[in-house]
Amino acid sequence: MAELFIQAWHRHHPGAPVHVFSAYEINAQPCSHCGHCKTENACIYHDLDALDAALRSADVLVIAAPVYVLGFPAPFKSILDRMQRYFEEKFTLKNPAPIPKRKEAVFLTAYGADSEDGVTFMREQLRISFRLMNARLAALVAVPNTDTIPPDFERLRRDFEELAHNLLAGEPK
Ligand SMILES: Cc1cc2nc3c(=O)[nH]c(=O)nc-3n(C[C@H](O)[C@H](O)[C@H](O)COP(=O)(O)O)c2cc1C
Repeated sequence: MAELFIQAWHRHHPGAPVHVFSAYEINAQPCSHCGHCKTENACIYHDLDALDAALRSADVLVIAAPVYVLGFPAPFKSILDRMQRYFEEKFTLKNPAPIPKRKEAVFLTAYGADSEDGVTFMREQLRISFRLMNARLAALVAVPNTDTIPPDFERLRRDFEELAHNLLAGEPK
């Protein structure tokens, strides 16, 4: 799904840079609530520094993750937990906008069964984290039943064309 979305994005926003981060490759240290970010505008770990820089400059944030045990796969959940530094920056260090640039967000997901419970929960997790990332969920594309029905990639291609076309439609190119 991520690859199809990126292809559609390039077609509609030629030249716009795309930065891809793999939660599995980064394998971020989990937040341990050490308290460092309550006193310093920083994390004790530096494995998310590149992601932090990208979050500050991005116009669009796309999250692509399958449903694992009704939630995000563990390496991605670690990244969400590490957004705690922005929570502390906002509420303890009193910087009202830790990530100043507003961005549109898209959530792409797939799940094996036909229950939407995982997606509902993940959407709530994103709602909390997006406030800290200054992101607004503009679209959610979910492919259900992947245990039994192959995804309709042609339909996804069409949906992503429309989505990529509409994202940032009101913004100057
Ligand atoms: C560890 C694990 C946990 C899963 N948990 C769920 C689940 O709670 N609900 C569900 O509908 N599917 C679940 N699935 C099925 C996946 O969501 C589904 O196979 C999805 O298409 C996997 O995408 P991927 O191939 O990108 O990992 C799980 C799969 C794995 C490997």
